[in-house]
Amino acid sequence: MESWEQAMAKRVGILTAGGDSPGLNAAIRGFGKAAIGQHGMELIGFEQGIRGLAEDRWRVLDSAALSGILTVGGTVLGTSRDKPHRMVIDGETVDMVPTIVENYEKNKLDALVCIGGGGTAKNANRLAKAGLNVIHLPKTIDNDIAHTDTSFGFSTALGIATDAIDRLHSTAHSHHRVIIAEIMGHKAGWLALGSGVAGGADIILIPEIPYSIESVAESVHSRAKSGRSFSVIAIAEGARDEQDTADLAAAEALRKSASAPEEKAAATKHRDSIEAAHRDNAFKVASALEEATGLESRVTILGYVQRGGTPDAHDRMLGTLLGSAGAALVADKEFGITVASQSGEAVPVPLSDVAGNLKTVPVDHAWIKAARAVGTGLGD
Ligand code: F6P
Repeated sequence: MESWEQAMAKRVGILTAGGDSPGLNAAIRGFGKAAIGQHGMELIGFEQGIRGLAEDRWRVLDSAALSGILTVGGTVLGTSRDKPHRMVIDGETVDMVPTIVENYEKNKLDALVCIGGGGTAKNANRLAKAGLNVIHLPKTIDNDIAHTDTSFGFSTALGIATDAIDRLHSTAHSHHRVIIAEIMGHKAGWLALGSGVAGGADIILIPEIPYSIESVAESVHSRAKSGRSFSVIAIAEGARDEQDTADLAAAEALRKSASAPEEKAAATKHRDSIEAAHRDNAFKVASALEEATGLESRVTILGYVQRGGTPDAHDRMLGTLLGSAGAALVADKEFGITVASQSGEAVPVPLSDVAGNLKTVPVDHAWIKAARAVGTGLGD
């Protein structure tokens, strides 16, 4: 029988991948302090996400390295959006999974912790399938990871976007303008919806509810008629009008049904070109509204401001909670999981249930009901 010491995972690698997000350092610290202090493990940190893992770039993370990082924004390990099975090296796309497996073995790792969003969950699942002992900690400002109530980063971004909407009201009402705030969130509307409700946006446009520009113009008009000659609109970067939503769905269906590799590549290119054509949607909405309502309409893109800076108390708590719970799960040799946040508890969920499974806003969600109840337009 294995002794207690032998049964424990001893040497663990950790990395952060995908977009930077507030709370990443809290999670690194939460995992690391518990792993070293409570479970007697050694920790090494790979630099720049999956790329550092493939290129075998790492440094030891001891107690001193984990000190003083709780409140720091970004990630002390650096990050990248590389995919293990399709990494671009010197202009060539290479499958680096075998190299990653070699590096894992060479470094005598017992486990690998991947901190990241939906893309990272997919990559972590790929590495788990290649035989590595992987756990995933869910971070993203988009809050779109399946089976977790909240991901760390979301709360801070929600606060920043809400503050921005508050501030935009000053110029909107002083100048009698329509101000459109473009808010991140990729294909999900959580951030735009949450900050729109909290900031009292007059209209909120999200990907889950395709909008009609006529309906948006009507909401702006009726406010102007009742003496409120300004409007603040929170638009998610992924929001589309009804026609664009239908075009995109058709292109995606075509892509999914394509079987031959050339056919699939062409369908993907077509889908991506439709997506790219609508990246400046906020500006299109602004000019359509200016024409329809006669009110001066301006756009403010919040961009990376939303994910920068010190994490709020909630994200520090969540990073610490999920990180430290992750260390206990590694000690118990529970692998192939996401450490999800469910009703305030850290709960292991199979990675295969999380990977590729986007959590979008249900159209009957309580936040949508609340927005409608207070008279906020949703563009439908
Ligand atoms: O996933 C987080 C996120 O900030 C999304 O909201 C946004 O679409 C994306 O990252 C931007 O990515 P990048 O850092 O590659 O510009």
